[in-house]
Amino acid sequence: MTICGCFGRLFRNKSSDDADPSPDPVNNTVQFNEGFDSDSDIETNPPEADGPTYVALYDYEARIEDDLTFQAGERFCMIDKGLADWWYARSLRTNLKGYVPSNYVAVEDSPEQEGWFFGKLSRAEAERRLLDNSNTQGTYLIRESEREQGLYVLSLLNVSGQERNVKHYKIKRTPSSGYFITRFMDFTNLQELVQYYADNAEGISSRLMRPCKLAEKPKPPFAKDVWEISRDTLTFDKKLGAGAFGDVFKGTWNGNTEVAIKTLKPGTMSPVEFLQEATIMKKLRHPHLVSLYAVVSEEPICIVTELMAHGSLLDFLRTEGQSTHYRDHLYMIIQIASGMEYIERENFIHRDVRAANILVGVGQICKVADFGLSRLIQDDLYQAREGAKFPVKWTAPESFTYNRFTIKSDVWSFGVLLSEIVTKGKAPYPAMPGYEVVAKLVDGYRMPKPRECNEELYKIMLRCWDDVDTERPSFAELHHIFETMVSPRPGYEEHPSY
Ligand SMILES: Nc1ncnc2c1ncn2[C@@H]1O[C@H](COP(=O)(O)OP(=O)(O)O)[C@@H](O)[C@H]1O
Ligand SMILES: [Mg+2]
Repeated sequence: MTICGCFGRLFRNKSSDDADPSPDPVNNTVQFNEGFDSDSDIETNPPEADGPTYVALYDYEARIEDDLTFQAGERFCMIDKGLADWWYARSLRTNLKGYVPSNYVAVEDSPEQEGWFFGKLSRAEAERRLLDNSNTQGTYLIRESEREQGLYVLSLLNVSGQERNVKHYKIKRTPSSGYFITRFMDFTNLQELVQYYADNAEGISSRLMRPCKLAEKPKPPFAKDVWEISRDTLTFDKKLGAGAFGDVFKGTWNGNTEVAIKTLKPGTMSPVEFLQEATIMKKLRHPHLVSLYAVVSEEPICIVTELMAHGSLLDFLRTEGQSTHYRDHLYMIIQIASGMEYIERENFIHRDVRAANILVGVGQICKVADFGLSRLIQDDLYQAREGAKFPVKWTAPESFTYNRFTIKSDVWSFGVLLSEIVTKGKAPYPAMPGYEVVAKLVDGYRMPKPRECNEELYKIMLRCWDDVDTERPSFAELHHIFETMVSPRPGYEEHPSY
């Protein structure tokens, strides 16, 4: 029998737990001080969970009564992993029970626990992170391939003079579940493999010198079971920006959780319809979509989302982003395409794709925001697609003419967004008023190639602007095209011994 780490000295208090076999969400942070020292309990008293021990990857400060405060390295016994975001756990240090964010813990001694393990990550994203200027020769990470389920890859940065490139090595499996890069050296686990290549560059381009840094500690999920909130749980700390229908603030929820709060002027949307739609939007979760956390569903409506450090991509491109290059742009485009591919897969429609609705976080991470919201706007001019509030220059002709919005009209807008990115935030169709653009598009006119744009990219834009919407590429295809553009050699480095 394998004994889970939590059955040793910190065994539970028999009497209180028997009376309470399932986690009680209301009163679950109970301290067990006595009665857990008897090893004989191991046999007579079945454990709450017979899974492995987990370890905290980061510090976490409890935000509501139900969750646990803990420090990186703290160990847990998992009692209930039924929810995706919050797992019910018992700390082996304090013996307290409560919820922990599932993205803050990993199985003890598993690769997930290691700073070099980045989980599912595309080749392009691995390169983007490793090529960051702060990284030096031998910076590495191990990732799980996005395309090939279960395949681990070592991605390694090489620097020679001005040249920086990333090499990718497949980590293959032995028949006995071991791991190897070259046939002659196999290891029982990834940790051993990393340890070996930290000392030997045999068959790979460099010794493994240091793990790639995470741009920032991942955000914990928003508080469990919190959705419709009252206005007085929010504080509005600083105005971040103004949109056509209200202001956006940096704020705090519950005195402890940093958020962005989008306020909508009364009358912008029907609260009932908004709430229905928001309930769907909250289920859309992806690393390149801004997470919807909570709503104040009475007017003035507030939409509470994750806070993105650098604001909108449009503002970013026009300021700090002026020093970005083509490669940076490709990385932005890939991230947006990946978020939009997810929206496409979920059969959702964004309806307002433009650089102002892409938000930028630490490390130039880009996330799609405001999906689905524009459908709900009740403003007459907006509905008539007239006036300054309606994003005419991003709108597909069929949406304009027949009010037909599909994922393919999103693809059209994405084509316009590409022009915003390569021109570092210039307005599309400069010097042409919106009504003229609409009239000319119907006649077959298309935005000329922006000076900053290369032929390859412009061809893709033109495909996004095909008259026949079904002929436009899908976001899945666009994502793939851009990934191949940034990393044209899809293969892996091979050791000479193959
Ligand atoms: N989650 C967020 N984090 C940080 N800044 C944000 C966030 N949401 C919006 N903003 C800022 O507020 C501005 C206004 O947003 P919004 O009301 O959506 O209008 P628009 O999309 O027309 O710019 C954005 O341009 C951006 O600078
Ligand atoms: Mg917006």
